Amino acid sequence: MEEKPQVARTQVGIVGAGPAGLVLALLLRRRGIESIVIETRSRAYCEQRIRAGVLEHGTVGLLEENGVGERMRREGLVHHGIYLRFAGRSHHIDFPALTGKTITVYGQHEVVKDLIAAHVADGAALHFEVGDVRIEGIDGERPVIRYRDGSGAEHEVACDFVAGCDGFHGISRDAIPAGVLRIYERVYPFAWLGILSESPPVCEELIYAHHARGFALFSQRSPAVQRMYLQCAPDEDLGEWPDERIWRELQRRLEGDDAPNLVPGAIVQKGVTAMRSFVVEPMQHGRLFLAGDAAHIVPPTGAKGMNLAVADVAVLARALEAFYGNGDTAALDAYSSTCLQRVWRAERFSWWMTSMLHRMDADPFGERLQLAELDYVTSSRAASQSLAENYVGLPLPV
Ligand code: FAD
Ligand code: DHB
Repeated sequence: MEEKPQVARTQVGIVGAGPAGLVLALLLRRRGIESIVIETRSRAYCEQRIRAGVLEHGTVGLLEENGVGERMRREGLVHHGIYLRFAGRSHHIDFPALTGKTITVYGQHEVVKDLIAAHVADGAALHFEVGDVRIEGIDGERPVIRYRDGSGAEHEVACDFVAGCDGFHGISRDAIPAGVLRIYERVYPFAWLGILSESPPVCEELIYAHHARGFALFSQRSPAVQRMYLQCAPDEDLGEWPDERIWRELQRRLEGDDAPNLVPGAIVQKGVTAMRSFVVEPMQHGRLFLAGDAAHIVPPTGAKGMNLAVADVAVLARALEAFYGNGDTAALDAYSSTCLQRVWRAERFSWWMTSMLHRMDADPFGERLQLAELDYVTSSRAASQSLAENYVGLPLPV
C-alpha cells in the first residue's frame, strides 16, 4: 500500500536554510507572507559552517531594518577599507573617502545563527535534517515539494511558489526541464586553503596580498579569531599542510618593507575551497525561482557570494509582495532579468579581483600586467573608487 504523506500548505516553499533561504523567509514574514523552509543539514551544522565573512553596506542595512542586526552591530567589525599588498608594500583603499560607505566583517555562520534564532522566536516553520527532497509541478499553479523527515516519514508541501535556495550542490536547479537553462562557467586553476586561528589580528583591516608564491588573504572574525587564506592547488592535500607550514607560508606572502606582524596561534579549522564562476540563465522557470548559489557562483576574492544571495531574495520578496498585494506579476516576471544585472556585475568584479591578485603559472607578461593593474588601482582615484564602489556593494534594488 502506498504511504500517505503528511500534507502542509503554504504560500512559498523554500528549499535550503542558507543565507538566501533564511533571509527570504524573514522578508516574507515581515510582509505577512507565509513560508515553510526545509533543510537537509542539522541546525548545528548550519550554525557552524565556516564560509563568508564580509557584509556589504546594503546587506547590513537590510538585516538591521528587518530586526536581525542587534548582535551584528555589537560584535561585527566595521571596516573602513582594505589593503592591497604587492611588491612588498601595502596600499590602503579608503571606502568612506571614496564611497561614503563601510563594510562589516561578521561570519556568515553568525548571520545564519541570528536568522535561525529570529525564525524560532517567531514560531516560523523551519525543518532541519530532511531527506529525499523533490520539487514537482513547477509548470502549473500548484507546485509541490516532497521530502522525508528524519524518521523516514513522507511529507508534502503544497505551495504557490517554490524558492530554490539550496546552494550550488542542491536539487532545485535540476528540477528545471532539460534545455531551459543556459550555463555560463569558468573554472580557475587554483583554490584557497582557508584557516581559522586563535591569534591576534594581523592588521586592523583585511589585506589582499599578491605575491610571487601565490595570493594570500588576511581576514578576521573577532579580536581573538582570525580567518586567513592561501592560494593553493585545486587538489591540494591538507595532510601536507601542518600548522607550521601554513604560518611560514602566510609570513612569506606578507614579506616586504612594512610587513605586518603575524603572530601564530592555534589553527582550529582548515579547508580547501574551489574557485569557479558560474551563472545559469534564466533564474526562474514556471513557479520555481532560483536564488543565491543555486543560480550563480563567484570566486570568493571579491567577497560577493553571500551578498548576492541576499540581493536576489530582496528582489524576490518584493516581487511576491506585489503578487500577493494586488495580483501584479510584472516584478515576478522580471525577477531573472532584474537579478542577473547585479549578478553579472558581481561576476565581473569577482573575476577581475581574482585575475589581478592570483599567481598565474608561467605567464611573465601576465604578471607584469597584474602589477601594472595593482599600481593603477592604488594610485588613481578613479580606479580605486571603482574597486571601492563594487566592494562596499552596489545599491540594493528599491
Ligand atoms: P548556501 O549557503 O550553500 O545554502 C544552501 C543551503 O541549502 C545549505 O544549508 C544546504 O545544506 C541546503 N541544501 C542543499 N541541498 C538541499 C536539498 N536538497 N534540500 C534542502 N536543503 C538543501 N560570500 C560573501 O558574500 N562574502 C565572503 O566574504 C565570502 N567568502 C567566502 C569564503 C569561502 C571560503 C566560501 C566557500 C564562500 C564564500 N562566500 C562569500 C560565498 C558564500 O558563502 C555563499 O555565496 C553563500 O553561502 C550562498 O548562500 P546560499 O544561501 O545561496 O547557499
Ligand atoms: C573573507 C572571505 C573572502 O572571500 C573575502 O574576499 C574577504 C573575507 C572572509 O572569510 O573573511
